[in-house]
Amino acid sequence: MEFAGKVVLITGGSGGIGSAAAKIFAENGARLVLVGTSKEKTEVKAKELGLKDGEYLALVADVSREEDVKAYVEATVEKFGRIDVFFNNAGLEGSVARTAEITSENMQKVYGVNLMGVHYGLKHVLKVMLKQKNGSIINTASLAGLRGFPGMGAYVASKHAVVGLTRSAALEVALEGIRVNAVCPAPVETRMMESIEKVFGEGARESFEKGVPMNRYAKPEEIAQLVYFLASDKASFITGGIYTIDGGQSAKS
Ligand SMILES: NC(=O)c1ccc[n+]([C@@H]2O[C@H](COP(=O)([O-])OP(=O)(O)OC[C@H]3O[C@@H](n4cnc5c(N)ncnc54)[C@H](O)[C@@H]3O)[C@@H](O)[C@H]2O)c1
Repeated sequence: MEFAGKVVLITGGSGGIGSAAAKIFAENGARLVLVGTSKEKTEVKAKELGLKDGEYLALVADVSREEDVKAYVEATVEKFGRIDVFFNNAGLEGSVARTAEITSENMQKVYGVNLMGVHYGLKHVLKVMLKQKNGSIINTASLAGLRGFPGMGAYVASKHAVVGLTRSAALEVALEGIRVNAVCPAPVETRMMESIEKVFGEGARESFEKGVPMNRYAKPEEIAQLVYFLASDKASFITGGIYTIDGGQSAKS
């Protein structure tokens, strides 16, 4: 019960990676705040995790809207008084398009969630953690935050931005008891990859898997284990870190 009584706030809390992380934190005694785009889905997830009324919050927010982000942070503090861990994880892939064809609508949609949403989360949660002089933040970037992927320019650019925000925020608060890190997964078995595979067509999954030296996708639970470690006191000297979790993909030239 390493997280007994601790308050863990997760965006994208009913999605693949977010709910896998929620499960480990719940098993270790945390009080959870799950933020998603559907109240029903986050409530269902909380019940699946066996969370009892009064020990969790299921909140709806569009993270690309600052007022929604401010509201989920305020609701968390009102209910639990603090935020110990923030898994800043909500994201979307946007439309697949070569750079010459990316519409500004697509760019703005992806940036709205993956960049502005992550920034708003950092901004409002850091204000709480700075008062506490304590906290751990994990942003979900991607291997796409470190490399280019044809057809995914908007997503790739947004995830590079998450890496930059992570490093800058970590440096700003390193002396104030707050750690900020990012995880960079290669393909993970969630809705997001299923949606990307559909666009790339038949054989896409096999081709993506071939790019991974371990020749498979990650399970959401494997990403969740890294997030859990980074959130824990075992990672007390780790901040500003950008952690690939990719079956060896980034080790290739
Ligand atoms: N699946 C992968 O292969 C992979 C690889 C690297 C990084 N990631 C990143 O992992 C994170 C989680 O994705 P996932 O794979 O679990 O996919 P997912 O689609 O299962 O989960 C994404 C979550 O983000 C939420 N979300 C999307 N737009 C939102 C908005 N406007 N406001 C609030 N919430 C919103 C969704 O409701 C969902 O819960 C994302 O940031 C994604 O970019 C995924």
